[in-house]
Amino acid sequence: MAKVKTTFFCQNCGSQHAKWQGQCNACKAWNTIVEEVIQTPEKSDWKSPTSAIKKAAIPLRIQDIDTSKEARLDTFDAEFNRVLGGGIVSGSLTLLGGEPGIGKSTLLLQISLKLPYKTLYVSGEESQKQIKMRAERINPKHNNCYILTETKTQNIFKQIEALEPDIVIIDSIQTLHSDYIESSSGSISQIKECTTELIKFAKETATPVLLIGHITKDGNIAGPKILEHMVDTVLQFEGDRNHVFRILRAHKNRFGSTNELGIYEMQGSGLREISNPSEILISKKDEELSGNAIAATLEGMRPLMIEVQALVSTAVYGTPQRSATGFNAKRLNMLLAVLEKRAGFRLGAKDVFLNITGGITVDDPAIDLAVVASILSSNEDVSLPKDFCFAAEVGLLGEIRPVQRIEQRILEAEKLGFSTIFVSKYNKIALKNTVIKIQLISKIEDLVTVFLG
Ligand code: TYD
Ligand code: MG
Repeated sequence: MAKVKTTFFCQNCGSQHAKWQGQCNACKAWNTIVEEVIQTPEKSDWKSPTSAIKKAAIPLRIQDIDTSKEARLDTFDAEFNRVLGGGIVSGSLTLLGGEPGIGKSTLLLQISLKLPYKTLYVSGEESQKQIKMRAERINPKHNNCYILTETKTQNIFKQIEALEPDIVIIDSIQTLHSDYIESSSGSISQIKECTTELIKFAKETATPVLLIGHITKDGNIAGPKILEHMVDTVLQFEGDRNHVFRILRAHKNRFGSTNELGIYEMQGSGLREISNPSEILISKKDEELSGNAIAATLEGMRPLMIEVQALVSTAVYGTPQRSATGFNAKRLNMLLAVLEKRAGFRLGAKDVFLNITGGITVDDPAIDLAVVASILSSNEDVSLPKDFCFAAEVGLLGEIRPVQRIEQRILEAEKLGFSTIFVSKYNKIALKNTVIKIQLISKIEDLVTVFLG
């Protein structure tokens, strides 16, 4: 019997070592090195070795390179297209990561059901019946989607050669295994090998491949980091499982920007594309309540109007409570300190609760002014007019600081029918003839005077 060849891989960074050691030399992580069985990968090819066409590359002048083959396939999903930069590039590998149960399989199945092209959906996780049941919920009229439940790459390629699909979806890369490697599915060497085979297949046949990838508990895609380097595009599907909103982001995109994001709503019948998120995130109330303020934020390149709610009440127990959902708690404490020092509000003995509605988390500093306004509104029990909104950062000196892309925010607010937007005096605004009133303020006291006189 041939000697079994093994090697040692770091589970964190995927680097290879000749022997076991406690710490990885490459990424310095401890206890991450595992032994895996490997075979010499020279035989590995997506086709049978005899039919493999070996084309040697020749250098070409850059202007002679033909880019017309870089055609994009429309996915018939506006949000997905947007994140990819206008559709799937033929021959590209896209990796979709996300927490279990977030809706990765649902998203890609839904897309494959909508496509008019011949689609092959390979699942190593669910049976054909289960997938059919799910497909029935999402879109009962479908005719060009083939389902294959298989995990061995050689068998998958055999089916692909027979079927010749226009697009291949793999759910998930961690369940695949190749005959050329002896270690179990999901191991680093298997993931690497299967991805390499898929890349070869995609590049040689110009068929786009979409991969679903599991993520580890700290949010990284399971398997070697090198997986993310190998593929062309890495997408992340995220959201709070208790809320209906899901956000699709590109972490890496060789064919487009990583600033775009797609927003979906999880419904009983699959994911619904949300083309105008602001309308959904703002709850339409008839009466004006105190403690409510609307922020004109940006997520990536997209303007999002977000509702901020604050509740300020006298602390019952000794130490006042500070709690923030969807907003950085340290930043909340800082803003409270600024309000206390610069505007003279005694908030030290008050409980302050802050909530960003819709279950989303906001990093955009432009939300600061809305946070301050909602706290003031709750503290004074004065409601702000419903059609006011805010877009500015608040500094430690109580100064109102400018934010990027202010025009985009103003136009979004105007589109949604807001009457006034509060922005920093220091923002250079190149807009003329706006219907919305642009109220310029320079310090936190200005805001107080506007509301409380
Ligand atoms: P799934 O796509 O299986 O998640 P993943 O592949 O990321 O693990 O999605 C599972 C969740 O989505 C499940 O908890 C139920 C919910 N869901 C709906 O709410 N509506 C639907 O139409 C479908 C198909 C799923
Ligand atoms: Mg799944």
